[in-house]
Formats: sequence, structure tokens, C-alpha cells
Amino acid sequence: MGSRIAIIGTGYVGLTTGACFAHLGHDVVCADLDPGRIERLSQGHLPIYEPGLQDIVEAGIASGRLRFVVGAAEAAKDCEFAYLCVQTPQGDDGSADLTYLQAAAADIAKVLPAHAVVVNKSTVPVGSTKVVERVLGRHDVSVVSNPEFLREGSAVSDFLKPDRVVIGSDDPSAATRVASLYSDTSAHLLVTDPASAETIKYAANAFLATKISFVNAVAAVCEAVGADVNDVVLGIGYDKRIGHEFLRPGPGWGGSCFPKDTRAMVKIAENAGYDFNLLKGVVVVNDEQRERMVTKVRNAVGGNLAGAVVAAWGLTFKANTDDLRESPAIAIIDVLQSLGAIVKAYDPQVSQHPSINVGSDPYEVCDGADTLLVLTEWDEFRWLDLDEVKRRLRQPNIVDTRNLLDRSAALRSGFSYQGVGR
Ligand code: NAD
Ligand code: UGA
Repeated sequence: MGSRIAIIGTGYVGLTTGACFAHLGHDVVCADLDPGRIERLSQGHLPIYEPGLQDIVEAGIASGRLRFVVGAAEAAKDCEFAYLCVQTPQGDDGSADLTYLQAAAADIAKVLPAHAVVVNKSTVPVGSTKVVERVLGRHDVSVVSNPEFLREGSAVSDFLKPDRVVIGSDDPSAATRVASLYSDTSAHLLVTDPASAETIKYAANAFLATKISFVNAVAAVCEAVGADVNDVVLGIGYDKRIGHEFLRPGPGWGGSCFPKDTRAMVKIAENAGYDFNLLKGVVVVNDEQRERMVTKVRNAVGGNLAGAVVAAWGLTFKANTDDLRESPAIAIIDVLQSLGAIVKAYDPQVSQHPSINVGSDPYEVCDGADTLLVLTEWDEFRWLDLDEVKRRLRQPNIVDTRNLLDRSAALRSGFSYQGVGR
């Protein structure tokens, strides 16, 4: 029989977690603060784009196993498990801001049934399990860390088929109960103390960001020495100790998590007396990568960005999401615009933006542009007609920050083409 689960926060993580737990047979109540959002969710209208999520939300609602309510207390009052899935943004000094987490814990403190388990799924620094325990002020409930490793764009399959489930707890019985929720996922299970679970989450994101900054730095070397980074990655990746994953060069990593989590890990280390120079370097390389992309555009348009017209394909921080948070595409366009460039953008999931002119057709934004600039690796861009793009551009230039397009085809069509690291 399924368990009664409350999910606090219906963002990317909360909504995915709630819908997937309902899919696994649990009885789930999801809470958020905004009545409009809850009303729409109750009718099956999703506030975010995430492949596969619509279907399992609809199925959950139809089965009666997935409900949406306003306010954390309303969701938590009958639960066995309360999952905290609220945002933990970057605070002023780089560390994670726990205001939302503490507020959510305070919301449910009085109504939690005895023996409930409160689960921190938000990404939170070492010691946050204790913080939540203090806010709850309850001796008859347990607090457990259960970090989430899903990626946007593949959140549902990542949740249902995780590489591992990590549970951090000093209470073996609470850990076993949380583990049982995942029994149908056949994932590796790792039970640790809370500090280790919290550190695993930051270390995982920091390592992934390190891989990307590493390959972006190698890409810079490749450009300088005349090597091709795609071949270099292929060559090193066959070594099983290295692998091919997460070594795609690009415009720098972004999104709602790597930027804040790398900085938070630097801060966690600093507070504990360790100077995490390696990770600081990873962040610096990422900032430089964006500047390098701007330089490529400047070179493509003949050295002066003032008045240059740029057709930008892609605004989201990666493909298959509508998430614009900390998107490298937006950061690069901001710089281009501040230097006088006129940018017209297209993205399959974005129809408007407060500071960017967004068109509704990928070809139309190319009209009269001095270069095409590919910023997000949407698959559909691969299949667009380069001859049509060339007819519309003022100059046949391509800057492909994702190495997405077929370089040989672009050169054959008469484009000047700049990728990354080749
Ligand atoms: P989000 O901003 O998309 O969603 C958070 C939601 O929580 C919002 O809808 C907000 O209104 C709601 N909320 C805040 N306080 C509340 C309260 N007191 N009661 C009810 N609802 C409340 O955030 P997200 O992207 O889902 O991330 C959540 C956490 O998970 C963060 O700590 C993040 O680092 C972590 N994480 C995110 C991802 C990801 O891919 N987005 C992956 C793994 C982990
Ligand atoms: C990332 C992690 O992959 C998840 O495991 C983690 O749960 C999540 O952060 C989180 O804590 O929020 P996500 O941010 O959704 O997931 O997306 P990723 O696929 O990791 O991409 C992050 C950024 O790195 C994107 O800007 C992407 O374009 C870039 N990237 C990724 C590269 O430039 N090259 C790569 O090879 C991979």
C-alpha cells in the first residue's frame, strides 16, 4: 500500500517528486503558496515545461492519488512524510539562503502528525537537517536528508530511474521508511549521516561543473593549437576512468543550480576553514567562457558590435526546458546588447522576455542579421535549412556555441563558421 506524502513546493523538483510518487502508487498532496498556481495545477495545467510530466500529473489527478492544495499546513496535516522542495537561492555572501526552507518548516511544525518524517529534498548546506529540527521543535518527528539529482529536461526519467538514492539520517528507522518509498525504482541505495548526504549533493554538482569547465578550458587550448575538441573528448572518453559524459563544450554552464551550488560549496568550505581554490577556478573559467563567446560574435561581425544585428537561436539554459534561470544565453545576449548589438532571438519554449526581442520563427529572426548565434542545443535547430538561413542573413556567419550544427554542411553552404574548440 502507498504512503501518505506531502510535498511542499511545486517547482521543478516538488512537482516532479509529487507526480512521480503518485505514479509509484503513493497518496500525494502537493502544496504551494500561490492559489492561482494550485487552481491551475488541480486542472492539470502545468506551470513549467518538463517532458513527460504532463502525462503523469494528469494520470495522478485522475487516479485521485495526486492532489494540490494552498499552504504547506493543509498538505502536511495527515501525512507520514513531508518533503521540503522549496527554493534555496544564493544569499548575498554566496551561501544558500535558507529563509524559504525555514518558513516551510515553520508552516508545518504544528500540524505534523506524530512520527511523521520531514525530508529535506531542497539542496541545503551541511547542518540544515539540524536547522529544520530546531524550527520544527518537535521530538516526535524525524528529519532526514534526501537530496535530489534530477536534471531539468529529463526530470521524470531521472526521478523514476535514478543512479542512486541518498538518504542522510541519524535515525535508522526513519531512513528505512524513506528508503521504502523508492523500493520500485531499483536504484543503488546509500544511507549516510546527514552531513555526508548534504555534502554528496554539493560535491556532485561541483564535480559536474568542474568537468564542463575543464572541457571548456581544453576547448580554448584546442583553438589555440589547432586541435578539434570533439576528437579530443572522444579520445579521452574511451578511457573508462574518464568517460564521455558531461564533456560537451559550450557557452558555459548555467541553470538554477550549478551557479548557486558551486558558490555555496566554496562558502561551505570557507566557513569550515578550507580554501577551495579548485572550485573557485571552475567558476572563473565559466565566467571567461561567456566572454569568449562574446569575442567570437565580435569577430564574426567584423570587430565592432555597435549596431551589429545578431540572430540568436536559444534562450533557455539548456534544451528541453523552459527554464531561463542563470541561462548563459541570456547573459551573453545581455552583454551583446550592452555593447550596442541588436539581437533578435528565437526559442521553441520562450515567446517573450522583458529585455530581449523574441520572434516566433527561427528563420524570421535571421532577416538582415550579420551573424547567426546558436546558444541552446535544441535538437530542432539541427534540422533547419541552412540555405534558407543564408538567404535571410546579411552576412553568411555562424557562431555555434554548442557545436550543434553540421560544420561541414555550413562550410559547403558558404558560411563562415565558428564553433567551440575546433
Ligand atoms: P522552484 O523555485 O522551481 O520551486 C520552489 C517552489 O516552492 C515555488 O513554487 C514556491 O512558491 C514554493 N514554496 C516556497 N515556499 C513555500 C512554502 N512555505 N509553502 C509552499 N510552497 C512554497 O525550485 P526548484 O527548481 O524546484 O528547486 C527546489 C530545490 O531543489 C532547490 O533547493 C534546488 O537547489 C533543488 N534542486 C533543483 C533541481 C532542478 O533541476 N531545478 C534539481 C535538484 C535539486
Ligand atoms: C544539474 C545536475 O545535472 C543534476 O544532477 C542536479 O540535480 C541539478 O543540476 C540540480 O541540482 O539542480 P540541470 O541544471 O537541470 O541539472 O542541467 P544539466 O544537464 O546538468 O546542465 C547544467 C548546465 O551545464 C547547462 O547550462 C548545460 O547546458 C551545461 N552543460 C551540461 C554543458 O555545457 N556541457 C555538458 O556536457 C553538460
